[in-house]
Amino acid sequence: MNYTIDLTGKSAIVTGATAGIGRAIALGLAECGADVMVCGRNEERANEVVQEIQKMGRKSIAFQMDVKSEADAAEMAKTAEAYFGKIDLLYNNAGTISMSTIENLPLADWEEIFAVNCRGVFLCSRAVIPYMKKQGGGRIVNTASQCGKTGAALLTHYCATKAAVIGFTKGLALELAQDNIRVNCFCPGSVMTDMTLRESVWASEIQGRDAETILREWESAIPLGHYADPVEIARVAVFLATELSDYMTGQAVNVSGGQEMH
Ligand SMILES: NC(=O)c1ccc[n+]([C@@H]2O[C@H](COP(=O)([O-])OP(=O)(O)OC[C@H]3O[C@@H](n4cnc5c(N)ncnc54)[C@H](O)[C@@H]3O)[C@@H](O)[C@H]2O)c1
Repeated sequence: MNYTIDLTGKSAIVTGATAGIGRAIALGLAECGADVMVCGRNEERANEVVQEIQKMGRKSIAFQMDVKSEADAAEMAKTAEAYFGKIDLLYNNAGTISMSTIENLPLADWEEIFAVNCRGVFLCSRAVIPYMKKQGGGRIVNTASQCGKTGAALLTHYCATKAAVIGFTKGLALELAQDNIRVNCFCPGSVMTDMTLRESVWASEIQGRDAETILREWESAIPLGHYADPVEIARVAVFLATELSDYMTGQAVNVSGGQEMH
């Protein structure tokens, strides 16, 4: 019986790994022994994460991509297989957000958020699955959100995409169960990243209130009393890549400091 986390010899792809939760996942996986492809739109920032991982003695490469692009997703999988020889783990973490009342929400925002948060998850998964099948298994972990379960005012489009990610996770988990490919997602609550800071500025503009006050109000609604550090989210994301979670597939795991319980 082994209860330790050792990902030595495993190779992982993490999208949106240049910042926030994705960066913490990439570093967490490497700390546990995995080799990591760091995907992001900004090559310079991706290379900074790569260097941190290489300092831990792991193999790592940066891959510049837009998850909305079918060609980029295919190239991502091909490059990872060529570099690592296999793909054990895919983290579909890249995501975007904007904030608006429903009446003022531009169609372009609706379409962009679905393209990144949903089409991106589909394209990257579809690109990687043939490699996982060929090698006899793998794991896909998607970053959803508590917003996909509870809903949130001014974020209707974002909530819709994250509910879709949860549905996609469940369908794919059933489809791939016999292929030894586990598919799960996790649902962060409020995490202290650039995304949350941007949201507080938008909320302040819409509501005509101070962004700092709004941030404090949001924090006071978290039962555990503080915003998640990205590392607190990454720990659960890493767990979903290990043998310790072998009997889980199709799950949407809350990591929300007690804010979401369903
Ligand atoms: N911050 C939170 O409170 C929170 C809560 C729940 C879920 N999430 C989700 O967690 C994930 C990471 O968010 P974060 O808080 O770290 O935000 P972040 O803005 O710090 O990081 C998002 C990452 O995704 C990348 N990205 C965005 N669009 C992309 C595209 N088209 N192609 C490739 N990469 C792209 C960004 O460059 C960045 O690296 C997202 O899916 C987000 O929806 C965040």
